[in-house]
Amino acid sequence: MKVELRKPKLSDAKELRKLINDKEVLKQLCGYPYPCPLSRMEKDVKDCINGWKTKESYCFTILADGEIAGSIILEDPSKDMKRYELGYFIGRKFWNKGITTESIKQIIKYGFKELKLYRIQADTDSINPASGRALEKAGFKLEGIRKRNSKSGNRFVDLYMWGMTKWKRYILENNKEIILLRILGRFINYRKSIEIWIALYKSVTTWRRLF
Ligand SMILES: CC(C)(COP(=O)(O)OP(=O)(O)OC[C@H]1O[C@@H](n2cnc3c(N)ncnc32)[C@H](O)[C@@H]1OP(=O)(O)O)[C@@H](O)C(=O)NCCC(=O)NCCS
Repeated sequence: MKVELRKPKLSDAKELRKLINDKEVLKQLCGYPYPCPLSRMEKDVKDCINGWKTKESYCFTILADGEIAGSIILEDPSKDMKRYELGYFIGRKFWNKGITTESIKQIIKYGFKELKLYRIQADTDSINPASGRALEKAGFKLEGIRKRNSKSGNRFVDLYMWGMTKWKRYILENNKEIILLRILGRFINYRKSIEIWIALYKSVTTWRRLF
């Protein structure tokens, strides 16, 4: 399936609203009413278009084989920190096809290369393992868990905190991790052998001095 990200258009609102107007999708997104009125989605799309102008957020409409499948956004809630947060949703009929994973990969490439960010992060709830798995597949690292962070009904929910740094992505993209580890391993071995020779030399000289 071909996954593409493009800047949002106001005409996307109708299709996006159709996709989001689903209890299974909305239960993972806070702040949306159910049913979600078209006016709400039109406002969101307008905000997204505006976000590009003000550079406060970078939102993309996700296309799967040319069809609108969802939306993904990089936004800076703390303003000017260059530490952007990721948010996304995909319509239920598109789930489990790798579309989110591919969209995350594309948006982080844009974030690091074009926006020159040094860090991108995302939070997921323990009741949303699919979202965490998509981040993991895209190369994000689980940096911490905030236990019993919120409540969903009567259940306590943990918050999973995910992060990706520019350096980590560089290693992933260039497949340099293994090479780096090998160089480091050799360096450690080299240092260890020097230390052994120094210890041997010291014991021989002490031995000689004694006798
Ligand atoms: C979360 C969401 C974006 C995932 O989108 P998606 O396109 O289906 O994700 P992908 O197909 O790229 O990856 C999903 C992965 O999660 C796995 N997964 C799905 N349901 C799962 C579950 N209940 N438990 C564990 N893993 C699960 C899939 O098997 C897949 O992993 P795999 O490729 O190793 O098999 C989508 O379900 C969604 O829009 N949900 C509602 C909105 C939302 O949760 N937004 C994110 C808020 S943090």
